[in-house]
Amino acid sequence: MTTCIVMGSQWGDEGKGKVVDLLARGADVVVRFQGGANAGHTIWHGQRKVVLHQLPSGVLTPGCLNLVGNGSVVDPERLVEELAELAAIGVRPGPDALAVSSLAHLVTPIHKWVDGLAGGHIGTTGRGIGFAYADKARRVGVRAGALLDGTLATAIAQQLEQHQPWLDAHDPGAGPELLRRIELFTRACDQLRPFVRDIRPELHDALQAGSNVLYEGAQGALLDLDHGTYPFVTSSSTAIGGALTGTGVYTPFEHRFAVVKAYTTRVGNGPFPTELHGPIGEDLRARGHEYGATTGRPRRCGWLDLHLLREAARTSGYSGIALTKLDCLSGLPELRVATGRDADGQPVYATLPGWSEDILGAPSLEALPANARAYLDFITEQLGVPISILSTGPDRDQTLVLEAPW
Ligand code: GDP
Ligand code: IMO
Ligand code: MG
Repeated sequence: MTTCIVMGSQWGDEGKGKVVDLLARGADVVVRFQGGANAGHTIWHGQRKVVLHQLPSGVLTPGCLNLVGNGSVVDPERLVEELAELAAIGVRPGPDALAVSSLAHLVTPIHKWVDGLAGGHIGTTGRGIGFAYADKARRVGVRAGALLDGTLATAIAQQLEQHQPWLDAHDPGAGPELLRRIELFTRACDQLRPFVRDIRPELHDALQAGSNVLYEGAQGALLDLDHGTYPFVTSSSTAIGGALTGTGVYTPFEHRFAVVKAYTTRVGNGPFPTELHGPIGEDLRARGHEYGATTGRPRRCGWLDLHLLREAARTSGYSGIALTKLDCLSGLPELRVATGRDADGQPVYATLPGWSEDILGAPSLEALPANARAYLDFITEQLGVPISILSTGPDRDQTLVLEAPW
């Protein structure tokens, strides 16, 4: 049995989609265990770009079973849209290739409505994520299983009743439009129904049979509800623990890959100690095309922060790093990397020399300029975790797999 988990290690958008799509070529099963349509996972195959939000990034790989675990929150309308976008490029996963856990909670129009009104101070994606997880925790959520047992209408009515006092106070005119959206939601649920089932038996069977199972994280370690920069976090467990509660089947994760962007980005509000506010930050944004894959918002950019990565490694026990976007640093005269904090909690930096050569799609480690290799060695030494995958371009072929999980 080989299990591999791929997790974001920063504030999301590290390039998880690319890495999972690549590893999916050798996987039998790809399973998402948390998050929802707040995620935006970009995959490039040649000239073709696909952005996945809720579907696992194994969905483009023929023969791969894609599961959405109970730890995810599922927006039926957006999922149906995502399936339609895939159908337009000839990818049509049926229930034999895609399943959504009947225990996963649904993101309803009520959640998106309230998030739109109340999520501003965090800078949420507006996808209703926090409110779906909140309703799960206060036990007024609606599970995907409600599509199978005929309880959907009652469950939605009860949920609306719970939110009514808040809506009356903050948006008294919401009623008719919200009801219209609930109607559209119900129609999308009809299309989702064939994919809903208890996924635990098949995940368990796959693990028992020794299949290659790939767990796909969304967001990143610093957005983890418990271990991230609370309250500026998402509402799920993005670290390794979420993979067990989010699927309901035990497995020891043999390969625990952290996707690390060669610098740092963040979308939304909250602390970012190595953020660059001036022209270097803008330059990084332009080099990395750092605009949100879900909301299109410009991403805040800054230097790599090994201090925070060390904490993330402690939480999730990374066994390897998938380092991405090294190519975006070419041409910078020098690179700064935060290695720790001073007595006032401010980042302490090491400065490393840059390189001028274009390294897009580098064919081997040896082909990299010496200073680029020194940057990689520095990261490995500081974190005590080897680089298992090196990505030097958005396409899946622009990757060096140094330690393959399978
Ligand atoms: P995810 O949410 O972690 O899947 O990452 P996103 O898709 O939101 O953002 C990563 C962006 O970087 C996408 O546009 C990818 O196509 C792109 N990307 C991933 N790896 C590389 C790389 O090594 N080099 C470059 N230039 N772009 C990359
Ligand atoms: P992927 O999977 C980057 C951020 C939002 C906001 C905070 C809370 O593509 O890496 P939410 O809508 O989850 O309640 O917003 O979390 N956020 C992300 N940032 N990448 C993501 O996903 C994100 N998902 C949520 O910007 O700051
Ligand atoms: Mg993203």
